[in-house]
Formats: sequence, C-alpha cells, structure tokens
Amino acid sequence: MSDSKRAYSFTKGGLKKFNAVLGVILKEIKPGKDDIERVTSYSNEIISRLHNAVPKDVEIIAAGSIAHGTNLKGSSDIDIFMLFPKTLEERDMEKQALAIAKGIVQKHRNESYIIKYAEHPYLKLRMNDLGIDADIVPAFKIADSKEMGSAVDRTQLHTKFVVSHLSERQKDDVRLAKFMLDQHDIYGAEAATEGFSGYLCELLIHHFGSLHSLIEGMANLSVPIAIDAAPRRVLLEKDLESMAKKFNSRFIVVDPTDPSRNVAANVSEESLARLVLLSRRIIKTPSRATIFGAEYSEADSSRKMEKLGSALGVDIYALAFGTDDIAEDILWQQARKLRKRIHEMLEDCGFMPVFSLEGIENNSAVLTFMVNPARFGSVSVKGPSAFMKGASDEFTSAHSRSPMLYLIGERLAAIDKPKFSTPKELLERFSKGKEKGMPTHLKTKGSRLFVNRIPEAYSKIIYRSLISKRIA
Ligand code: CTP
Ligand code: MG
Repeated sequence: MSDSKRAYSFTKGGLKKFNAVLGVILKEIKPGKDDIERVTSYSNEIISRLHNAVPKDVEIIAAGSIAHGTNLKGSSDIDIFMLFPKTLEERDMEKQALAIAKGIVQKHRNESYIIKYAEHPYLKLRMNDLGIDADIVPAFKIADSKEMGSAVDRTQLHTKFVVSHLSERQKDDVRLAKFMLDQHDIYGAEAATEGFSGYLCELLIHHFGSLHSLIEGMANLSVPIAIDAAPRRVLLEKDLESMAKKFNSRFIVVDPTDPSRNVAANVSEESLARLVLLSRRIIKTPSRATIFGAEYSEADSSRKMEKLGSALGVDIYALAFGTDDIAEDILWQQARKLRKRIHEMLEDCGFMPVFSLEGIENNSAVLTFMVNPARFGSVSVKGPSAFMKGASDEFTSAHSRSPMLYLIGERLAAIDKPKFSTPKELLERFSKGKEKGMPTHLKTKGSRLFVNRIPEAYSKIIYRSLISKRIA
C-alpha cells in the first residue's frame, strides 16, 4: 500500500477499549454536580453584582467553557463578558468597564483582583476562599461579526454557536479532547504552547462528530486542509487553494461566526504534527498510558540535565534573563526569536549546536543550547554571487582580512578565523549586554550564563521545556 493510502482506523476491539478508558477518565475530569453548582452560583452572583452596577444598556453574559458546558474540573476560569453598546468610544468603554469591575470586588470576602492585558485590559477577580478566578472582560454587543469592533467581540457569538450545536455527549468529548491535548502540552492558543484553543476543540468535535472520529481524522491528516466548521465541510481544490492563500496557513478551521477568521491560526505546525502522531499512537494502543503521556517529575532537574549532557557528549549552556512584567505571549515570542538567532549565530561562528530551547517562568526566561564540544580552527563563509555588484563588494570588504578569499562557482567565499574561540565567549556577549538588538522585555541587567552546572531553579524551567518537546 502506498503511504498516501495507508488508513489509520480503530479496530472494533480497539474502539471498545478506547471508549472504556475514556469513560474512566471522564469521571475524573468532568466537574461533578457539586462543582457545577458551586461555580454556577458564584458566576451568577458576579453577574448580578455587575447587573446592579452597570447602566441599563450594558448586558452581562457568561461565556467560555463554563457557559458552554465544556470546562474541566478545577482548571477553567469563569469567563464573564460585559457587553457595551457600540455607540461608545473604545477607550471610554475600557475605562468604564474597569471602574465597574473594580467596584464589585468584595475585599471583606477575601476577594482580590489583578488587571490583565489582552486586546482590552480586563479584570481577573480572585475568590481566594473558593480557589476560583473570574475573568471580567469588556466587549461591544454585536449580533453579527460584520459589526465587530475588536476580536473579543466574537466571544458572545461563539457561545451562541456552541450552546446551540453541541450535544451533551459531544461536550464531554470536548472535555476529553482538551484534557488529552493538555497532557501532551498542546492545549491552549497562547504563544507558550501554540496549540489548540478551547473553542477550536469545540469546533473540531462538532466537525468530526466525536473524539474517536477526530482522532482518526488527525491520524490520517494531510495538509493543507481547510475545514468549514458550520456546514461540517472540508474544502477542496480551488476553494482549498484560495483559503490556504487567504489565511497563509496549511491548517484552517473557518470560524462559523466569522468567515474572515481562522480559529486554528495559532496552531504551530509542530503542535499539529504532535497531534497527528499522538492520534496514531492512540489508535495503535488505546490505553490510559497513551492518553496520559509520559509521566515526568521535575525533581532533581539539575542532575538530570547534567546526566543528559554527558550522555549526549554535549555542553549545555543556559542564558538566564529577568523579564518585564508584561503579557506572557510577548515574552515567549521574544525569547523564541532570540533563541533562534543565537542558535544560528553559533552555527555561523563554526560551533555545533545540536539542540536549543526556551522556557519562561516566574519572571525568568532561560535560553538553552546544547553544543558539541568540538572546536574549529577556521570557518567557511559563503557569500553572494560575483554578478551581484553591491553585495559582492560588501562581502569582499567585510572579509578583507580573510587569509582565503575565493570562489565556489560564481559565489564568493571566505575562510576566516572564528570570531569567538568558545561558545561561552559568544554567549557572554548576550549575558553582558554587549550585543545589539536585544529584545525589549528580556533584561540583560542581572542576566547570567551557566555552563553545564545549572542551578536547580533554572534547570526545572529547561527540563519542563525539554519534556514538552519530546514525542513519546
Ligand atoms: N477565545 C477565542 N480565541 C482565543 C481565546 C479565547 O476566541 N484564542 C474566546 C472563545 O470564545 C472562548 C472564550 O474566549 O470560548 C474564553 O476563552 P478561554 O477561557 O481561553 O477558553 P475556554 O473555551 O473557556 O476554555 P478553558 O476551559 O480552557 O477556559
Ligand atoms: Mg475559560
């Protein structure tokens, strides 16, 4: 059978086993009646407090997974939206909304709050006694995506869609899908994960009909693919081509509430590939262990990293920066970009990095590089074609001190002494703040470089990132 025709599907016995395993997991992750009552009554209380505090034309609604009935026990926040009339100016709306939300926090009941920043600032209310958080988010009230003023305005439409299109059984399948993805570090659209959002899981279950069909679909996935989620249709040929072009993506799930939005926009190719491999493993071995994934303990991370380093015969370099107190997404994007830049720089300078990764936690960003200890006496650098006038002049003058300037075919090339004699020398430029173009929110002041012996607090961050990169 040719590879493109190989079909992965559950056997009858496999599916029976899979469903039995899911039945057990569902009991563990689905909020019980008591949990639901507790969360609902708290959510209703917040809604009524807000009702009493807002002008008449502002509507308060419950949204997100709790309103959809797709939340997981203990881990989902309450999402409450304050819907303002569109006649208001955006900044006025934000100001009013925050003032109202702050006004309903009851300190005497051990509630506190923090202000978080997404498209609009919003308030996270912490009910410390109950261990429940409620996000109170302002948006404009709209009936159709055409009226949309900002991305959060869509949320009210999502709630309408999910509530009216998913059966109770499918909602449980969404819970299981979210749990499964989370176990494998691909649940959540934030930059740290670049995975599947809750709403995307809801749409995928709606499209495929059930979790086992979603898994079969993913196991056999070929890209590009564009799913039109409302009519449960896969787009073909010209339609697919134009979608792939429009969204500049190979994995598209069109938002039923807004045709201009790809709900899967934040899913990285790596996260998608991870789900494809996981789906195949589940079909092959539909066990609890496969769904839960490899267990790991973060204890002794420092020792484990040292052991891994010597087993691989590499040196491990860790660059640790303090971070500004801003949106995590921005920090992850900046850390990832800098890590890739340094990895390339190591290669260009003739070192041999075999693997690198970034991790962020507790106001620290750690960039890690595993580098072969071999040392080069010289590096070869390929330049532009001799026919490119400006570029070839620039290359020749930049390498004027090179002991060996020559041609490979039409291309200029130089053999140079390496700029740095060790990776440490290169990395110190970053830890000492000597390198230009540093990301704005990683602080070079107080930054540190470790070689092989990495303190436990940083090793934990690295080890967790490392585990999330592996396919088990
Ligand atoms: N939302 C969205 N796109 C995102 C994040 C959120 O459209 N990247 C909208 C969705 O309508 C979602 C709602 O905001 O239902 C609430 O988001 P969030 O709390 O992040 O997700 P939930 O679906 O509530 O899932 P969870 O159980 O993880 O809270
Ligand atoms: Mg939520």
